[in-house]
Amino acid sequence: MSRERFQSNDAAAAVDPLSRDGRLAWPLGLEQLAYGGDYNPEQWPRETWVEDVALMREAGVNLVSIGMFSWASLEPRRGEFHWEWLDEIFELLHEAGIRIDLGTPTAAPPAWFFRAHPEARVIDREGRALGPGSRGMACPSAPAYREAATGITRALAERYGDHPALALWHVHNEYGAPVGESFSPFAQAAFRDWALRRHGSLEAVNNAWGTAFWGQVFGVPEEIHAPLPTPSVQNPSLELDWRRFSSEQILECFRAERDILREITPHIPVTTNFMAHTCPNIDLWQWADEVDVVANDHYLIAADERNFVELALDADLTRSIARGRPWMLMEHSTSGVNWQGRNIAKRPGEMARNSLSHVGRGADAVMFFQWRASRKGAEKFHSAMLPHAGTGSRVWHEVTELGAELGRLSDLRGSRVEAEVAILWDWESHWAQDLPWRPADDLSHRAQIQTWYERLWRDHIATDFAHPEDDLSDYRLVLAPASYLLTDAAAANLDAYVRGGGNLVVGPFSGIVDADDGVRAGGLNAALAPVLGVEVHEFCPLREGREARLVLDGKPLRSRLWCEDLQLHGAEAIGRYTDGPLPQGTAATRHSHGAGTAWYLASDLDVEDLSALFSEPYSAAGLAVRDLPEDVELLERRSTDGTRHLIAINHTGEPAIIPVEGLRLEVPAGGVATAHLPAAGAPATD
Ligand code: GAL
Repeated sequence: MSRERFQSNDAAAAVDPLSRDGRLAWPLGLEQLAYGGDYNPEQWPRETWVEDVALMREAGVNLVSIGMFSWASLEPRRGEFHWEWLDEIFELLHEAGIRIDLGTPTAAPPAWFFRAHPEARVIDREGRALGPGSRGMACPSAPAYREAATGITRALAERYGDHPALALWHVHNEYGAPVGESFSPFAQAAFRDWALRRHGSLEAVNNAWGTAFWGQVFGVPEEIHAPLPTPSVQNPSLELDWRRFSSEQILECFRAERDILREITPHIPVTTNFMAHTCPNIDLWQWADEVDVVANDHYLIAADERNFVELALDADLTRSIARGRPWMLMEHSTSGVNWQGRNIAKRPGEMARNSLSHVGRGADAVMFFQWRASRKGAEKFHSAMLPHAGTGSRVWHEVTELGAELGRLSDLRGSRVEAEVAILWDWESHWAQDLPWRPADDLSHRAQIQTWYERLWRDHIATDFAHPEDDLSDYRLVLAPASYLLTDAAAANLDAYVRGGGNLVVGPFSGIVDADDGVRAGGLNAALAPVLGVEVHEFCPLREGREARLVLDGKPLRSRLWCEDLQLHGAEAIGRYTDGPLPQGTAATRHSHGAGTAWYLASDLDVEDLSALFSEPYSAAGLAVRDLPEDVELLERRSTDGTRHLIAINHTGEPAIIPVEGLRLEVPAGGVATAHLPAAGAPATD
């Protein structure tokens, strides 16, 4: 197949309504919600491809992701390209009207690459060189890897850029996992330059990292080092900068590939699949601005029986990093995965509930790993759209039903979710709080955010996530459950938000360090003390297994982990400890600040007890707790013409009836119901 044979895709590049900043931002030419999955035809004989495509049509598949791990099949020996099989797949899919999300295979360099460039292997913290024999194992800072990755990317773009089936570029696979850092000599040299650039001079690096402590001062730039193993704990500020650096090194790899794709195929949008909640290694606020459309992979935590709440958090976080624009669920599973301890099969209806929960939170694509279950390799026990049990299976039946349902929901495409509450989320703060030698290792920012999020989830209040430096003025309520690190700009932003009439609720151990993980002059929470009207004098974590009782909003509550000794400077105590290390001490406060109010909780509360903290802020913000059956969700998206799309999801074993504006939405046990309400006028159901 030669490039000339294609009918050019350029003609099809009419501006899509979802375009962003003048660039196309959606799988080109796809006018429905996207449905499909990773497709790995190179694992199968040709006869199977024909069957695959026929079954994809039967299932309602309109988009497949191919090629993410195909480098060795496309270029089995250096410079020797085998395009025939991919040409054929392009034609087969095109004839069937299925669009292609084409991967660049740079998450799995071939064996020849590592043989030629052993120096490009990832070096782990203990100094071991990793791979080959798996995937994702090249060092992001190695020049040979960068050159080879951009080389195969260019070859792919030149070969398929004009093919009419090409809808989207999918660069790499899950950047940051499994490789989030490499300690190769290339990386270490790049880190030295990066640190000098970030801080401006060697003296500034020494200051930022506080190297005077334990006599770590660098006399010349060559002494700046990566956080390699040390006899005692590593310098925390250096560790934090290493995380920043590693995220940016990987981002440079993405940018290099993306820029080639934009140069050769400016009409095709570019994405890469994130793992918003689960990959801790990359700062997605920074990354999300670099893609044309945000795509996310989500896998349930099998051990968690109510894992649909974590799913909801991940989806809301993804929409938020996409800045409210429609996004793609690029991967999830039809049933069990195979990489957790016990891989729990999804129960009937669960896959549809999961999928529609993502859609209700702004996803315009429902994609899976993977189309057909592999017979060989590490993931042969992972579920698929077409499982080993074939088309007679329950999973296949549900896959075809879901395809049909998504076909009926085409009008949702492009509609938005509106939230009046935001939770602050910052990867840099998470990195810093995870560093060792804290007052309590188990005061987890992640658990804290999840608990506060779950309170909102149970109260049926739609929630965005926001960076602490974002403009927050449109939110009626902002929650900062775990903001350990706040930059000066973020602290000023929160102050301005409250002064301007905002409602802010802050959780414990917040506003403690600056951008370099240094405690500010002026006290432990100097960044937030003025807005909260409270100074933290001491952290007083509890011994394991102990509890401290407190009273808040007249209710007896329990803390299991954390207390703080507070001094009030303008705030009012609204909660007090009755025992524990600080009997009669203040546990929670309220502070009027400018036209707004800030609340502070200096303790950890579970999701039930948090109701007592949130009741006042909810009413100040004019937010009502919705009266719905427990574990039934009601999600809403709104089209630009004002049409409201409702998706109700019933996670329980009992049918539920939800009254919505004169409408009775009947949601079967374990099922989903949808309805569309026109902008004004009579409601219409599905
Ligand atoms: C993802 C990955 C896929 C597949 C999947 C299995 O993280 O991108 O390639 O491995 O996990 O759950």
